[in-house]
Parts: sequence; C-alpha cells; structure tokens
Amino acid sequence: MIASLGWVRKAVIPAAGLGTRFLPATKALPKEMLPLVDKPVIQYVIEEAVRSGLQDLLIITGRNKNALENHFDRVAELEETLSKKGDEKRLFAVRESSQLADIHYTRQGDPRGLGHAVLRAKSHVGDNSFAVLLGDDVIDSRDDVLNQMLEVHERTGDNVVALMEVPESQIHLYGAAKVASTSGNELVLEGLVEKPESNAPSNLAVIGRYVLSAKMFDILENTGPGRGGEIQLTDALQHAAKHPEKAGGVRGVVFSGRRYDTGDKLDFIKATLRIAVDREDLGSELRAWLKDFAKGI
Ligand code: UTP
Repeated sequence: MIASLGWVRKAVIPAAGLGTRFLPATKALPKEMLPLVDKPVIQYVIEEAVRSGLQDLLIITGRNKNALENHFDRVAELEETLSKKGDEKRLFAVRESSQLADIHYTRQGDPRGLGHAVLRAKSHVGDNSFAVLLGDDVIDSRDDVLNQMLEVHERTGDNVVALMEVPESQIHLYGAAKVASTSGNELVLEGLVEKPESNAPSNLAVIGRYVLSAKMFDILENTGPGRGGEIQLTDALQHAAKHPEKAGGVRGVVFSGRRYDTGDKLDFIKATLRIAVDREDLGSELRAWLKDFAKGI
C-alpha cells in the first residue's frame, strides 16, 4: 500500500451526528462508539487514517462525547490489573487504542450538518489540505481508497471525493456526482447534488471520505442551509466544482471494495458478520454456525 506523499497530515473525523437511525442505542452513546465485534466503529476509521500516514486527527464531537474521549485515553487501573494477571493480549488491545495517533477533539455544538461539523476544524487545520473521514463509515482494512485520493489531490490540487456505484433506487439517499470526464477510476466532476429526489445526475454516490483544500473553509463559511435545513458539505463541493478558481475543482475516485455505513442497522449487522467471519479467533466457528443457521431460514 502506498503511504501518503506527505502534503496532507491532518484528518478530521466528524462524530457529532444524532444517530437517530440507531435509536435507542444511540440515546446515551455516540453511534461511532458501537462495537464492530470488539472495537468501536470509530477505531476502524482512525486505523485507516493512520495507515494512510495521517497522524494528527481531530474528532468533531457532539453530546455524549465522554465515551469517545475515554476510549482513546489511558486507563491506568485497567492496565495495572491486566498486567498483574499477565494478560498481555488484552493489555496490548487496551493500550493500542490510546497510542494510535495524536487525537484532538472539538465540539460542534448543535449538529447543523456535515458542512458545519467540518467548518469547526478550521483553526486546527490551518492552511494545509486535509482529509475528512466520516466516523461511522467503515472501509474494510483489506481495501483502500484514501491513499489513492491523497495521491490524486497531491498530483492535481483538486478536492477529491470517494464515489461508489449504487443501485438507481438508492441514489436518493446519497450525494450524487455529475461527471465531466473519466480516466480509469478517476473522474473530474462538474457538480454534486445532495440526496436527489429525481433526475439524479448519475448513480455514483459520495461516500464518507474526502480530501479537501483548506480554501474549502471559505466556501463553507458562505454556504447556507440546504437539504434538511443542514449545512451540507456536498453543497460547498458543488460550489467548488462550479468555481474551481476559488478552492480547486472536484475529482472523484471510484471505490468498489467493502464499505459499511454503520449508522444504518442492516449495514452494521453485515459489517459485524463480514469482519467476524474472517477473524482468526471467531471465523471458523461462526462460519459453521452461519451455514447451519442459513438452512433454517
Ligand atoms: P449522518 O447523516 O449519517 O449522521 O452523518 P446522523 O445525522 O447522526 O444520522 P441519522 O440519520 O440521524 O442516523 C454522517 C457523519 O457526519 C457526522 C455524523 O456523526 C456521522 O459520522 N455529523 C453529521 C456530524 O458530525 N455533525 C452533523 O451535524 C451531522
């Protein structure tokens, strides 16, 4: 896997949404803290950023932020107990989450949309380009899109979004890309439409990975509420695509690997199973059980 060439060092991880699709589980716990097998969703996202050479991470938090901060903090008593027991494996797992990266936090206040959450990162990010990884969107560690997006950004200076082909019946749930030209799986976009109700410009859906120029903050500052009354990152990117002189144009990288929207209950269950069947400690027993289970349904 190619690591980032080094232009982009910071990543912003929005995790301040209300998670209403997962209520009541998300009443007191951010959806980003729900576990996929034995690690919270957001840890997979952070590990992906680190694999791409991004070490300075800013998590945008909302209500119930304590669980998030605590997870990435050290817990001396727990470490001491595991150490006394000689339980090296669990001790490693507990320490690992507190040593992954340099993690910072800022609050969004009211969840006024993804664009608004990203704008909260302005002073931390400064003048350099940065990545955005949605805290509930998991890309399987065996697949990669972020390294490729970083490479496209570093080569062109344009903003880059990750795109996935979805069935036409599903595109209204996503931001949809309007494609100007294609070269392999890299596309130049002439626009983006957030959750199109009809006449979607394509069935290429924006998924939760972005590499953005710092000038996008200026555009976000001037982006008013859009769909659902929220400040939409898609609307700011649509503006950038129309006025590339302001913050660079917009390109897309088409991803066809394994990706899970864990804020969606069915996708969350699929992600759990997909990850668990390949785990050394669980896989063979789970596969056998699943085969047996499937016979009865
Ligand atoms: P979603 O649209 O999936 O989040 O945002 P949501 O609003 O919490 O979802 P539902 O529909 O109510 O279940 C994608 C990502 O952006 C973050 C979310 O936490 C999630 O990681 N987000 C969204 C924010 O940080 N702030 C917001 O205002 C909105």
